[in-house]
Amino acid sequence: MPSVLISEQEIAARVDALAQRISADYAGTDELVLVGVLRGAFIFLADLSRRLTIPCRVDFIALSRYEHGSTPSGAVRLIMDVRVEITGRHVLLVEDIVDSGVTLEYLRRIFEARKPASLKTCALTRKPDRVPPDISIDYVGFDIPDRWVVGYGLDYDNRWRTLPYIGVLEESFILPSRSD
Ligand code: IMP
Ligand code: MG
Repeated sequence: MPSVLISEQEIAARVDALAQRISADYAGTDELVLVGVLRGAFIFLADLSRRLTIPCRVDFIALSRYEHGSTPSGAVRLIMDVRVEITGRHVLLVEDIVDSGVTLEYLRRIFEARKPASLKTCALTRKPDRVPPDISIDYVGFDIPDRWVVGYGLDYDNRWRTLPYIGVLEESFILPSRSD
């Protein structure tokens, strides 16, 4: 099994704290749209959204970071778009992990073009050794080392998503591959 990096209890406490901050920051608005990035953010978004004390809408977007079976190409593909109206609404993008930051910057670009009232970002985890310093994230759950992590929605080859904790996968498991 992957070794524990962040326990179930630590995740719950941090998600609580993030939800409190987000609820306070968006107090008074009824136009918040949470946009979860599939598939990795599905568990984080489910927990975070249920702890918010403000009304919100929930929608999803699906992306693919790498072409199937190849090494990382840097390209992001849009596989499924949101269905809710974005223009004039407060949008919070909810990501599982920010690694190189390429996905987040792609999302920022396509959402800015839709003229939201505001656009902010929330990531459960971030690898500070990898993210370029000019990429800012409004709400970060955990800064983690540059290792491949799985669990709590995060996968390796679409496995391990349902682990209740965030764990580190041993190097021997990892091959150059795609992810989403
Ligand atoms: P970025 O575009 O390089 O920031 O990569 C972001 C995407 O790559 C994330 O949304 C994840 O789907 C995937 N990813 C990057 N690092 C990890 C990891 O350690 N575990 C699982 N997925 C990861
Ligand atoms: Mg992702």
